[in-house]
Amino acid sequence: VKTIEVAAPGAPYRAVIGAGLLENCGDWLRPFARDGRLAVVSDELAWAAQGERLKRGLAAHGLAAELIVLPPGEGAKSWRGLEGLIDRLAQAGLERGDALLAFGGGVIGDLAGFAASIYMRGCRLIHVPTTLLAQVDSSIGGKSGINIAAGKNLVGSFHQPALVLIDPACLDTLPARHVRAGYAEIVKYGLIDEPAFFAWCEAHGPSLIAGDAAAREYAIAASVAAKAATVAADPRDTQGRRALLNLGHTFGHALEAATGFSDRLLHGEAVAIGMTLAFRFSTARGLCAAEDADRVARALAQAGLPTSLDPALETGAALAERMRRDKKAQDGRLTLVLAHGIGKAYLERGVAVAEVAGFLDAARGE
Ligand SMILES: NC(=O)c1ccc[n+]([C@@H]2O[C@H](COP(=O)([O-])OP(=O)(O)OC[C@H]3O[C@@H](n4cnc5c(N)ncnc54)[C@H](O)[C@@H]3O)[C@@H](O)[C@H]2O)c1
Ligand SMILES: [Zn+2]
Repeated sequence: VKTIEVAAPGAPYRAVIGAGLLENCGDWLRPFARDGRLAVVSDELAWAAQGERLKRGLAAHGLAAELIVLPPGEGAKSWRGLEGLIDRLAQAGLERGDALLAFGGGVIGDLAGFAASIYMRGCRLIHVPTTLLAQVDSSIGGKSGINIAAGKNLVGSFHQPALVLIDPACLDTLPARHVRAGYAEIVKYGLIDEPAFFAWCEAHGPSLIAGDAAAREYAIAASVAAKAATVAADPRDTQGRRALLNLGHTFGHALEAATGFSDRLLHGEAVAIGMTLAFRFSTARGLCAAEDADRVARALAQAGLPTSLDPALETGAALAERMRRDKKAQDGRLTLVLAHGIGKAYLERGVAVAEVAGFLDAARGE
Protein backbone atom coordinates (compact mmCIF):
# COMPACT_ATOMS: atom_id res chain seq x y z
CA VAL A 1 0.00 0.00 0.00
CA LYS A 2 1.34 3.40 -1.00
CA THR A 3 0.24 6.65 0.62
CA ILE A 4 0.52 10.05 -1.02
CA GLU A 5 -0.10 13.26 0.91
CA VAL A 6 -2.12 15.90 -0.87
CA ALA A 7 -1.01 19.12 0.84
CA ALA A 8 -4.07 21.20 0.02
CA PRO A 9 -3.74 24.34 2.19
CA GLY A 10 -5.99 24.08 5.23
CA ALA A 11 -7.34 20.71 4.14
CA PRO A 12 -4.55 18.15 3.69
CA TYR A 13 -5.52 14.55 3.05
CA ARG A 14 -4.11 11.22 2.03
CA ALA A 15 -4.55 9.18 -1.11
CA VAL A 16 -3.98 5.50 -0.38
CA ILE A 17 -3.23 3.22 -3.32
CA GLY A 18 -3.14 -0.56 -3.29
CA ALA A 19 -4.57 -3.53 -5.16
CA GLY A 20 -7.09 -5.28 -2.90
CA LEU A 21 -7.62 -2.18 -0.80
CA LEU A 22 -11.42 -2.53 -1.08
CA GLU A 23 -11.42 -5.75 0.92
CA ASN A 24 -9.55 -3.91 3.69
CA CYS A 25 -11.35 -0.58 3.42
CA GLY A 26 -13.06 -0.95 6.81
CA ASP A 27 -9.81 -0.08 8.58
CA TRP A 28 -9.65 3.22 6.75
CA LEU A 29 -13.34 3.98 6.82
CA ARG A 30 -14.28 3.16 10.39
CA PRO A 31 -13.38 6.67 11.67
CA PHE A 32 -15.91 8.11 9.21
CA ALA A 33 -18.85 5.87 10.08
CA ARG A 34 -21.54 6.71 12.63
CA ASP A 35 -23.34 3.82 14.35
CA GLY A 36 -21.59 1.51 11.91
CA ARG A 37 -23.18 3.13 8.87
CA LEU A 38 -21.69 5.10 6.01
CA ALA A 39 -23.58 6.83 3.16
CA VAL A 40 -22.35 5.53 -0.19
CA VAL A 41 -23.32 6.95 -3.57
CA SER A 42 -22.58 4.94 -6.70
CA ASP A 43 -23.94 4.23 -10.15
CA GLU A 44 -25.58 1.00 -11.29
CA LEU A 45 -22.66 -0.26 -13.40
CA ALA A 46 -19.88 0.61 -10.95
CA TRP A 47 -21.88 -0.89 -8.11
CA ALA A 48 -22.71 -4.08 -10.02
CA ALA A 49 -19.05 -4.50 -10.97
CA GLN A 50 -17.34 -3.65 -7.68
CA GLY A 51 -19.94 -3.04 -4.97
CA GLU A 52 -19.69 -6.51 -3.43
CA ARG A 53 -16.00 -5.94 -2.72
CA LEU A 54 -16.72 -2.68 -0.91
CA LYS A 55 -19.54 -4.31 1.06
CA ARG A 56 -17.23 -7.15 2.09
CA GLY A 57 -14.55 -4.72 3.20
CA LEU A 58 -17.07 -2.79 5.28
CA ALA A 59 -18.69 -5.90 6.74
CA ALA A 60 -15.31 -7.24 7.86
CA HIS A 61 -15.23 -4.32 10.28
CA GLY A 62 -18.88 -4.41 11.24
CA LEU A 63 -19.78 -1.53 8.95
CA ALA A 64 -22.63 -1.26 6.45
CA ALA A 65 -23.40 1.03 3.54
CA GLU A 66 -26.41 3.34 3.45
CA LEU A 67 -26.58 2.89 -0.29
CA ILE A 68 -27.72 5.35 -2.97
CA VAL A 69 -27.33 3.96 -6.50
CA LEU A 70 -27.97 6.25 -9.47
CA PRO A 71 -28.34 5.44 -13.16
CA PRO A 72 -24.96 5.56 -14.96
CA GLY A 73 -24.01 8.34 -17.31
CA GLU A 74 -23.15 12.01 -17.49
CA GLY A 75 -26.86 12.88 -17.00
CA ALA A 76 -26.47 12.36 -13.25
CA LYS A 77 -24.27 15.47 -13.16
CA SER A 78 -27.28 17.80 -13.45
CA TRP A 79 -29.50 20.01 -11.29
CA ARG A 80 -32.04 17.20 -11.25
CA GLY A 81 -29.43 14.61 -10.28
CA LEU A 82 -28.10 16.89 -7.55
CA GLU A 83 -31.56 17.57 -6.16
CA GLY A 84 -32.38 13.87 -6.13
CA LEU A 85 -29.14 12.99 -4.37
CA ILE A 86 -29.47 15.72 -1.73
CA ASP A 87 -33.04 14.64 -0.98
CA ARG A 88 -31.85 11.06 -0.55
CA LEU A 89 -29.09 12.19 1.82
CA ALA A 90 -31.64 14.05 3.90
CA GLN A 91 -33.99 11.04 3.92
CA ALA A 92 -31.10 8.85 5.05
CA GLY A 93 -30.60 11.21 7.96
CA LEU A 94 -27.09 12.28 7.01
CA GLU A 95 -25.84 14.86 9.49
CA ARG A 96 -23.30 17.59 9.18
CA GLY A 97 -20.45 15.66 10.80
CA ASP A 98 -21.13 12.58 8.65
CA ALA A 99 -19.25 11.54 5.55
CA LEU A 100 -20.44 10.79 2.05
CA LEU A 101 -18.50 8.14 0.14
CA ALA A 102 -18.36 8.47 -3.66
CA PHE A 103 -17.93 5.03 -5.26
CA GLY A 104 -17.62 5.25 -9.04
CA GLY A 105 -16.05 7.21 -11.85
CA GLY A 106 -15.68 10.93 -12.35
CA VAL A 107 -19.40 11.43 -12.79
CA ILE A 108 -20.25 10.07 -9.35
CA GLY A 109 -17.21 11.80 -7.84
CA ASP A 110 -18.10 15.21 -9.24
CA LEU A 111 -21.78 14.94 -8.30
CA ALA A 112 -21.19 13.54 -4.81
CA GLY A 113 -18.39 16.05 -4.25
CA PHE A 114 -20.68 18.94 -5.07
CA ALA A 115 -23.48 17.51 -2.93
CA ALA A 116 -21.06 17.05 -0.02
CA SER A 117 -19.87 20.64 -0.38
CA ILE A 118 -23.35 22.13 0.02
CA TYR A 119 -25.35 19.62 2.06
CA MET A 120 -25.64 21.09 5.58
CA ARG A 121 -23.15 23.73 4.35
CA GLY A 122 -20.66 21.00 3.81
CA CYS A 123 -20.11 17.47 5.04
CA ARG A 124 -17.07 15.20 4.72
CA LEU A 125 -16.32 13.45 1.47
CA ILE A 126 -14.45 10.24 0.73
CA HIS A 127 -13.51 9.27 -2.80
CA VAL A 128 -13.22 5.62 -3.77
CA PRO A 129 -12.67 6.03 -7.53
CA THR A 130 -13.39 2.99 -9.70
CA THR A 131 -12.39 4.21 -13.19
CA LEU A 132 -8.83 4.90 -14.29
CA LEU A 133 -9.71 8.52 -15.06
CA ALA A 134 -11.11 9.03 -11.58
CA GLN A 135 -8.14 7.24 -9.96
CA VAL A 136 -5.49 9.36 -11.68
CA ASP A 137 -7.30 12.66 -12.05
CA SER A 138 -10.77 13.60 -10.83
CA SER A 139 -10.61 12.16 -7.28
CA ILE A 140 -7.60 14.36 -6.43
CA GLY A 141 -7.81 18.12 -6.17
CA GLY A 142 -11.28 18.88 -4.87
CA LYS A 143 -13.00 20.11 -8.01
CA SER A 144 -16.65 19.12 -8.04
CA GLY A 145 -19.61 20.11 -10.12
CA ILE A 146 -22.48 19.53 -12.49
CA ASN A 147 -23.35 20.40 -16.09
CA ILE A 148 -25.97 22.99 -17.05
CA ALA A 149 -27.64 23.71 -20.38
CA ALA A 150 -24.95 26.28 -21.26
CA GLY A 151 -22.11 23.84 -20.82
CA LYS A 152 -20.19 21.21 -18.90
CA ASN A 153 -18.92 21.75 -15.36
CA LEU A 154 -20.19 25.33 -15.25
CA VAL A 155 -21.58 25.01 -11.73
CA GLY A 156 -19.50 23.58 -8.93
CA SER A 157 -17.21 24.16 -6.02
CA PHE A 158 -13.88 23.30 -4.49
CA HIS A 159 -14.35 20.68 -1.80
CA GLN A 160 -11.35 18.57 -0.89
CA PRO A 161 -12.04 15.00 0.18
CA ALA A 162 -10.99 13.82 3.64
CA LEU A 163 -9.59 10.59 2.19
CA VAL A 164 -9.08 8.95 -1.20
CA LEU A 165 -8.89 5.14 -1.44
CA ILE A 166 -7.63 3.85 -4.78
CA ASP A 167 -7.81 0.14 -5.57
CA PRO A 168 -6.33 -0.57 -9.03
CA ALA A 169 -8.06 -3.98 -8.98
CA CYS A 170 -11.31 -2.07 -9.67
CA LEU A 171 -10.02 -1.66 -13.21
CA ASP A 172 -10.32 -5.39 -13.87
CA THR A 173 -13.99 -4.88 -14.74
CA LEU A 174 -13.65 -1.51 -16.46
CA PRO A 175 -14.31 -1.68 -20.24
CA ALA A 176 -11.03 -1.45 -22.18
CA ARG A 177 -12.13 1.71 -23.96
CA HIS A 178 -12.45 3.49 -20.60
CA VAL A 179 -9.04 2.17 -19.52
CA ARG A 180 -7.48 3.70 -22.63
CA ALA A 181 -9.35 6.98 -22.09
CA GLY A 182 -8.04 7.24 -18.53
CA TYR A 183 -4.57 6.43 -19.77
CA ALA A 184 -4.56 9.64 -21.84
CA GLU A 185 -4.60 11.64 -18.59
CA ILE A 186 -1.65 9.59 -17.28
CA VAL A 187 0.40 10.44 -20.37
CA LYS A 188 -0.57 14.08 -19.83
CA TYR A 189 1.44 14.32 -16.58
CA GLY A 190 4.57 13.21 -18.42
CA LEU A 191 4.00 15.68 -21.22
CA ILE A 192 3.52 18.60 -18.82
CA ASP A 193 6.75 18.42 -16.83
CA GLU A 194 7.98 14.84 -16.39
CA PRO A 195 9.80 13.68 -19.52
CA ALA A 196 11.16 10.60 -17.75
CA PHE A 197 7.63 9.53 -16.87
CA PHE A 198 6.57 10.07 -20.48
CA ALA A 199 9.41 7.75 -21.54
CA TRP A 200 8.13 5.22 -19.01
CA CYS A 201 4.70 5.49 -20.66
CA GLU A 202 6.21 4.87 -24.08
CA ALA A 203 7.80 1.68 -22.76
CA HIS A 204 4.99 0.39 -20.54
CA GLY A 205 1.76 1.93 -21.85
CA PRO A 206 0.68 -1.05 -23.96
CA SER A 207 1.17 -3.54 -21.10
CA LEU A 208 -0.66 -1.19 -18.72
CA ILE A 209 -3.60 -1.11 -21.15
CA ALA A 210 -3.46 -4.90 -21.46
CA GLY A 211 -3.88 -5.30 -17.70
CA ASP A 212 -0.37 -5.44 -16.18
CA ALA A 213 -1.17 -4.86 -12.50
CA ALA A 214 2.28 -3.60 -11.51
CA ALA A 215 2.34 -1.10 -14.37
CA ARG A 216 -1.11 0.14 -13.41
CA GLU A 217 -0.20 0.63 -9.79
CA TYR A 218 3.03 2.43 -10.68
CA ALA A 219 1.36 4.77 -13.17
CA ILE A 220 -1.53 5.56 -10.82
CA ALA A 221 0.83 6.45 -7.98
CA ALA A 222 2.99 8.60 -10.27
CA SER A 223 -0.11 10.39 -11.59
CA VAL A 224 -1.60 10.99 -8.16
CA ALA A 225 1.75 12.37 -6.97
CA ALA A 226 1.93 14.69 -9.99
CA LYS A 227 -1.59 15.96 -9.51
CA ALA A 228 -1.11 16.30 -5.75
CA ALA A 229 1.96 18.49 -6.27
CA THR A 230 0.09 20.68 -8.72
CA VAL A 231 -2.92 21.03 -6.46
CA ALA A 232 -0.76 21.91 -3.46
CA ALA A 233 1.00 24.63 -5.49
CA ASP A 234 -2.21 26.12 -6.91
CA PRO A 235 -5.21 24.80 -4.97
CA ARG A 236 -7.84 27.06 -6.50
CA ASP A 237 -6.51 27.14 -10.05
CA THR A 238 -5.63 30.82 -9.90
CA GLN A 239 -1.86 30.89 -10.45
CA GLY A 240 -1.48 29.24 -13.82
CA ARG A 241 0.22 26.12 -12.47
CA ARG A 242 -2.94 24.06 -12.22
CA ALA A 243 -4.00 25.37 -15.63
CA LEU A 244 -1.25 23.23 -17.16
CA LEU A 245 -3.44 20.23 -16.35
CA ASN A 246 -5.60 21.51 -19.20
CA LEU A 247 -3.01 20.37 -21.73
CA GLY A 248 -5.01 19.10 -24.70
CA HIS A 249 -8.26 20.05 -23.02
CA THR A 250 -9.23 23.23 -24.87
CA PHE A 251 -8.88 21.43 -28.20
CA GLY A 252 -10.46 18.35 -26.62
CA HIS A 253 -13.49 20.14 -25.20
CA ALA A 254 -14.25 21.55 -28.66
CA LEU A 255 -14.19 18.03 -30.07
CA GLU A 256 -16.38 16.72 -27.26
CA ALA A 257 -18.84 19.54 -27.90
CA ALA A 258 -18.79 18.89 -31.65
CA THR A 259 -19.66 15.24 -31.01
CA GLY A 260 -22.40 16.19 -28.55
CA PHE A 261 -20.57 14.87 -25.44
CA SER A 262 -21.63 11.42 -26.56
CA ASP A 263 -20.11 7.94 -26.69
CA ARG A 264 -18.75 8.87 -30.12
CA LEU A 265 -15.78 10.43 -28.34
CA LEU A 266 -14.93 9.83 -24.69
CA HIS A 267 -13.29 12.64 -22.74
CA GLY A 268 -9.90 10.89 -22.64
CA GLU A 269 -10.08 10.19 -26.37
CA ALA A 270 -10.76 13.87 -27.04
CA VAL A 271 -7.83 14.75 -24.76
CA ALA A 272 -5.56 12.37 -26.71
CA ILE A 273 -6.40 14.16 -29.96
CA GLY A 274 -6.20 17.50 -28.17
CA MET A 275 -2.72 16.84 -26.74
CA THR A 276 -1.49 15.80 -30.18
CA LEU A 277 -2.96 18.98 -31.66
CA ALA A 278 -1.40 21.11 -28.91
CA PHE A 279 2.04 19.69 -29.74
CA ARG A 280 1.50 19.97 -33.50
CA PHE A 281 0.33 23.58 -33.05
CA SER A 282 3.42 24.26 -30.95
CA THR A 283 5.50 22.85 -33.80
CA ALA A 284 3.64 24.97 -36.34
CA ARG A 285 4.50 28.04 -34.26
CA GLY A 286 8.17 27.08 -34.28
CA LEU A 287 8.21 26.31 -30.55
CA CYS A 288 8.61 22.57 -30.48
CA ALA A 289 10.59 20.04 -32.49
CA ALA A 290 8.45 18.06 -34.92
CA GLU A 291 10.01 14.84 -33.57
CA ASP A 292 8.52 15.59 -30.14
CA ALA A 293 5.04 16.02 -31.59
CA ASP A 294 5.50 12.77 -33.51
CA ARG A 295 6.53 10.99 -30.32
CA VAL A 296 3.37 12.21 -28.57
CA ALA A 297 1.16 10.94 -31.39
CA ARG A 298 2.99 7.60 -31.49
CA ALA A 299 2.75 7.01 -27.73
CA LEU A 300 -0.98 7.67 -27.72
CA ALA A 301 -1.66 5.66 -30.87
CA GLN A 302 0.23 2.61 -29.59
CA ALA A 303 -2.14 2.67 -26.61
CA GLY A 304 -5.10 2.52 -28.98
CA LEU A 305 -6.06 6.17 -28.61
CA PRO A 306 -7.10 8.44 -31.49
CA THR A 307 -4.66 11.22 -32.41
CA SER A 308 -6.05 12.90 -35.51
CA LEU A 309 -8.97 15.11 -36.40
CA ASP A 310 -11.93 13.54 -38.13
CA PRO A 311 -12.19 15.70 -41.29
CA ALA A 312 -15.93 15.01 -41.47
CA LEU A 313 -16.46 16.64 -38.09
CA GLU A 314 -16.43 20.44 -38.43
CA THR A 315 -14.41 23.20 -40.07
CA GLY A 316 -11.43 24.69 -38.29
CA ALA A 317 -13.35 27.94 -37.85
CA ALA A 318 -16.27 26.16 -36.18
CA LEU A 319 -13.98 24.24 -33.82
CA ALA A 320 -11.93 27.36 -33.02
CA GLU A 321 -15.17 29.20 -32.23
CA ARG A 322 -16.07 26.42 -29.80
CA MET A 323 -12.66 26.85 -28.19
CA ARG A 324 -13.27 30.59 -27.87
CA ARG A 325 -16.48 29.90 -26.01
CA ASP A 326 -14.69 27.56 -23.61
CA LYS A 327 -14.61 29.18 -20.20
CA LYS A 328 -10.88 29.83 -20.42
CA ALA A 329 -11.17 32.33 -23.31
CA GLN A 330 -10.48 35.98 -22.47
CA ASP A 331 -11.41 38.94 -24.68
CA GLY A 332 -11.94 36.64 -27.63
CA ARG A 333 -8.39 35.37 -27.46
CA LEU A 334 -7.46 31.88 -26.45
CA THR A 335 -5.33 30.78 -23.55
CA LEU A 336 -3.75 27.49 -24.55
CA VAL A 337 -1.35 25.07 -22.95
CA LEU A 338 1.46 24.75 -25.49
CA ALA A 339 4.85 23.08 -25.24
CA HIS A 340 8.50 23.75 -25.96
CA GLY A 341 8.96 20.00 -26.03
CA ILE A 342 8.05 16.86 -24.10
CA GLY A 343 7.84 17.76 -20.42
CA LYS A 344 7.98 21.47 -21.20
CA ALA A 345 4.36 22.63 -21.24
CA TYR A 346 3.55 26.27 -20.56
CA LEU A 347 0.56 28.59 -20.66
CA GLU A 348 0.24 30.82 -23.72
CA ARG A 349 -2.21 33.71 -23.46
CA GLY A 350 -3.63 35.76 -26.30
CA VAL A 351 -3.60 33.23 -29.14
CA ALA A 352 -5.69 34.55 -32.05
CA VAL A 353 -8.76 32.46 -32.86
CA ALA A 354 -8.08 32.81 -36.60
CA GLU A 355 -4.61 31.31 -36.25
CA VAL A 356 -6.05 28.27 -34.49
CA ALA A 357 -8.79 27.97 -37.13
CA GLY A 358 -6.19 27.95 -39.91
CA PHE A 359 -4.10 25.37 -38.08
CA LEU A 360 -7.12 23.11 -37.54
CA ASP A 361 -8.10 23.30 -41.21
CA ALA A 362 -4.60 22.25 -42.18
CA ALA A 363 -4.77 19.40 -39.63
CA ARG A 364 -8.14 18.25 -41.02
CA GLY A 365 -6.59 17.88 -44.44
CA GLU A 366 -3.82 15.59 -43.24
N1 LIG B 1 -13.26 16.91 -10.80
C1 LIG B 1 -12.26 16.83 -11.65
O1 LIG B 1 -11.16 17.32 -11.37
C2 LIG B 1 -12.46 16.09 -12.93
C3 LIG B 1 -11.35 15.80 -13.74
C4 LIG B 1 -11.56 15.07 -14.90
C5 LIG B 1 -12.83 14.65 -15.25
N2 LIG B 1 -13.89 14.95 -14.44
C6 LIG B 1 -15.25 14.50 -14.79
O2 LIG B 1 -15.26 13.08 -14.76
C7 LIG B 1 -16.32 12.60 -15.58
C8 LIG B 1 -15.85 11.41 -16.38
O3 LIG B 1 -15.44 10.39 -15.48
P1 LIG B 1 -15.26 8.88 -15.96
O4 LIG B 1 -14.50 8.84 -17.21
O5 LIG B 1 -14.79 8.13 -14.79
O6 LIG B 1 -16.74 8.46 -16.39
P2 LIG B 1 -17.95 7.74 -15.61
O7 LIG B 1 -18.01 8.16 -14.22
O8 LIG B 1 -19.14 7.98 -16.45
O9 LIG B 1 -17.53 6.20 -15.70
C9 LIG B 1 -17.44 5.57 -16.96
C10 LIG B 1 -18.30 4.31 -17.02
O10 LIG B 1 -17.68 3.25 -16.30
C11 LIG B 1 -18.62 2.65 -15.39
N3 LIG B 1 -17.80 2.12 -14.31
C12 LIG B 1 -17.21 2.80 -13.30
N4 LIG B 1 -16.39 2.02 -12.61
C13 LIG B 1 -16.44 0.80 -13.17
C14 LIG B 1 -15.76 -0.45 -12.91
N5 LIG B 1 -14.84 -0.55 -11.97
N6 LIG B 1 -16.09 -1.51 -13.68
C15 LIG B 1 -16.98 -1.39 -14.70
N7 LIG B 1 -17.62 -0.24 -15.00
C16 LIG B 1 -17.34 0.84 -14.25
C17 LIG B 1 -19.56 3.75 -15.06
O11 LIG B 1 -20.80 3.24 -14.65
C18 LIG B 1 -19.68 4.48 -16.40
O12 LIG B 1 -20.62 3.84 -17.21
C19 LIG B 1 -16.75 13.77 -16.43
O13 LIG B 1 -18.00 14.22 -15.98
C20 LIG B 1 -15.69 14.83 -16.17
O14 LIG B 1 -16.20 16.14 -16.27
C21 LIG B 1 -13.72 15.66 -13.31
ZN1 LIG C 1 -9.37 15.54 -18.49
